Amino acid sequence: MPSETKAQDLKDVAGIILSGGPQSVYEAGSPQADPEILELGIPVLGLCYGHQWLAHALGGRVAPGNVKEYGLTDIEQLSGDGLFAGLPQQFTVWMSHGDEVKELPEGFLTVASSKNCKNAAMMNAEKKIFGIQFHIEVTHTQHGMDILRRFVDLCGPEAWSMKSYASHIGEEILREVGEKKVFMLVSGGVDSTVAFTLLNKVLGEDRVQGLLVDTGLMRKGEVTAIQKAFEPLGIKNLQVEDASERFFAALKDVYEPEAKRAIIGRTFLDVQRAVSERMGLRIEDGWMLGQGTIYPDTIETGGTKNSDKIKTHHNRVELVQQMIEEGLVIEPLKELYKDEVRQLGEELGLPHELVWRHPFPGPGLGVRILCASASTSIPAFAPAGASVGKPSPFPAHSTGSGQAGGRENIDRVVLPVRSVGVQGDGRTYRHALALFAEDHECPTDSHYALASSIPNGSKTINRVLFCLSHAKLFEISFTPTFITKESADLLREADAIVTDAIREANLYEKIWQFPVVLLPFGEKEGMRSIILRPIESTDAMTAAAYRLPKEVLRRITQAILKLRGIDAVFLDLTNKPPATIEWE
Ligand code: XMP
Repeated sequence: MPSETKAQDLKDVAGIILSGGPQSVYEAGSPQADPEILELGIPVLGLCYGHQWLAHALGGRVAPGNVKEYGLTDIEQLSGDGLFAGLPQQFTVWMSHGDEVKELPEGFLTVASSKNCKNAAMMNAEKKIFGIQFHIEVTHTQHGMDILRRFVDLCGPEAWSMKSYASHIGEEILREVGEKKVFMLVSGGVDSTVAFTLLNKVLGEDRVQGLLVDTGLMRKGEVTAIQKAFEPLGIKNLQVEDASERFFAALKDVYEPEAKRAIIGRTFLDVQRAVSERMGLRIEDGWMLGQGTIYPDTIETGGTKNSDKIKTHHNRVELVQQMIEEGLVIEPLKELYKDEVRQLGEELGLPHELVWRHPFPGPGLGVRILCASASTSIPAFAPAGASVGKPSPFPAHSTGSGQAGGRENIDRVVLPVRSVGVQGDGRTYRHALALFAEDHECPTDSHYALASSIPNGSKTINRVLFCLSHAKLFEISFTPTFITKESADLLREADAIVTDAIREANLYEKIWQFPVVLLPFGEKEGMRSIILRPIESTDAMTAAAYRLPKEVLRRITQAILKLRGIDAVFLDLTNKPPATIEWE
């Protein structure tokens, strides 16, 4: 919740954690909490900035530390009780602060100290108020989770389980929807499918209507698969509307990714409005809009006050935002992470295979077709000399891993395309670099190491690819590309090849998501390239490139190269950060 939330609105919570932040309590505009939360008798734990705010608000003194501490530090326990009871006398924690608590508020005692920070932890056991300067939430802090667990135990909430949460969401839905009825767009992805099923369960079939809009940007066979999945659940209130022509027309000649998202979001709503008109489902008659938005979607759109905008989620285009403000949108999964949505889906009786399908963006293949009318200019990349069209290999930096000695000759070339990355919590829009190797069927550890080191040290590159189809850079031939039936069909076939291959190799559920992306250039005139982007993740907020076995890579590459219109295949080796999962 926002830090300014009034004590009045928090009186029924089990406990309050005031989180960290980079500000100083003395800075104008620094986050403030309502001091009355400290009078509610509810356990409060302040971490980092929260710790300093507690001290300041309760009459202690905060001031710049003699030494700023960033990184690992040893702390020593003084009191041996409170949240630290039973933990070793000394352990290592992660500190990151400039200011520190110099004098404790009345009634508090010091629980732990480090060499440079006397009041590294404080408490008032009677009032159940605790402050901790270091970061208990990071894995580098020893016993961080023990401390957090003790605080949670002290709060004594009901044990959390998906089962109890499902009934909680049920109550929330009934409260939010009131007497209204919900018209819900089902995109074909896991989230909207689970949300639609949940709304059906809670509100009953008569108060819910689903609409599956075939955008022309869905995976092969997807529409049929979704219709089939609902059959055994007895869900029949799903209308399917083929609007592909309308989407292609609206996206004609558009290449800017955010513009594409906005158009897709708007067209979804236009179709939904047309269908709801036709079916007589009007706002005046008590209908509202349902969406399958989940927590990471809102975070990355800059949905919370303190998070930076990475990219606009199509569920958050202007019109939807306006409807949200008017209370006309229900998003029952908006507080859940993907793995929780999946648990909930199984809880609701959806088939395992459907629930464990890879996440698929609402705008579908629309954000996986890189559109361009002309080639972009290519920035210089040190050491200079690498440019497209004139392959000029140069020796790699020492990669520090891989082959003995760590020095190999690896050709690398900046490609004339840019993609979205996320670096230091902010968004970047930078070029991709391609690596070429004699043995081009599968990348080595050295290639993966370069995928980490190059974006870290470059202001122009946020993504590193490995070329699976060619040992040497070919003369690049640019092909103007937009979202059309032709380009969508081509990508749909490549995507289906990938899905079939990883299902066959029994890797489907080991891989979190596997975007397949179409690039507007190839080796020969009129040809294009495909990028494979397999990743592993738990919540899509961070991700690691998934390493496919050579045999699977070979099979996929060969099958894709047989598609008419594709003559090059690349593998994306980059983690998130610095790259995002999707390209756009
Ligand atoms: P990124 O590319 O931001 O993706 O690392 C994180 C997760 O979000 C999905 N994604 C989207 N989903 N509409 C969606 O419904 C979008 O515009 C969109 N963009 C990214 C992406 O597939 C991944 O699971």
